[in-house]
Amino acid sequence: MTPWDIKSALVSKLDVDGTIPVVSTGSYELDNRMGGGVPLGSLTLIEGASGAGKSVLTQQMMHGSLQEGYKLALFTSENTVRSLITQMQSLSLDIVHYLLLGKLRVYPIEVGHLADEAPVALLEAFRNESDRDMIFVDSLTTAVGRSSLRDILSYFEGCKRLCADGRTILVVLHSHGLSQELTIRIRSICDAHLRLRTEEIGQKLVKTLEVTKIRGADKKTGNIVSFEVEPGWGMRIIPISKVRG
Ligand SMILES: Nc1ncnc2c1ncn2[C@@H]1O[C@H](COP(=O)(O)OP(=O)(O)OP(=O)(O)O)[C@@H](O)[C@H]1O
Ligand SMILES: [Mg+2]
Repeated sequence: MTPWDIKSALVSKLDVDGTIPVVSTGSYELDNRMGGGVPLGSLTLIEGASGAGKSVLTQQMMHGSLQEGYKLALFTSENTVRSLITQMQSLSLDIVHYLLLGKLRVYPIEVGHLADEAPVALLEAFRNESDRDMIFVDSLTTAVGRSSLRDILSYFEGCKRLCADGRTILVVLHSHGLSQELTIRIRSICDAHLRLRTEEIGQKLVKTLEVTKIRGADKKTGNIVSFEVEPGWGMRIIPISKVRG
């Protein structure tokens, strides 16, 4: 039985039992360490410095959700459709048929064109994607660089309202991209907060994923998981004994 089979069997069982379905990373082990996964209908903030693994995590969650039959829209400031296909293929995540079937729509965020209007324009675009179950934004940082604090907070509150209506939204933000005060306020608006870091443990540089909060989580949160990104595989959890050497 592959991890996919185990996950599928588990999800159908949970659905029958009436438990809220979650946004799956496609890896049962990773979902399990993430408090059981981010529940559908949540607004999630994925935060970390450059190279910490935000896009890889986002791409795994996108692929996991596509496999479970959800319709997605990705708003990206980092990729074209072509570069996204190539990047995800390098992690063995094939999205071509989902794009052809219209299950995944990809929209580049034109930062120069939007200027300080980005938060308002993005929210309007999300509202227009009314047939999408999930919306991913990777990343919001450059798009809102010239926007006011008020517009950025209104954007997150607007996202929250869409989630209350059943939408699931995941937003990637760079740590230190915005002021500390604003970041704290954004974190408190969001239902889930996943923080990615590159840390020095012993003599090694290790990537970590911390599940700071998940409202409505199935299991205990606050866990820190160490992982590495492996070509052709994606995020692979490293046992703590191996990290410490
Ligand atoms: N296919 C792959 N094979 C091996 N390593 C990869 C692969 N794809 C990404 N990585 C590595 O995984 C790490 C995380 O990359 P990722 O793009 O997720 O970072 P990020 O947090 O989104 O960074 P940024 O803020 O610059 O967008 C990087 O070190 C990157 O080089
Ligand atoms: Mg990225």
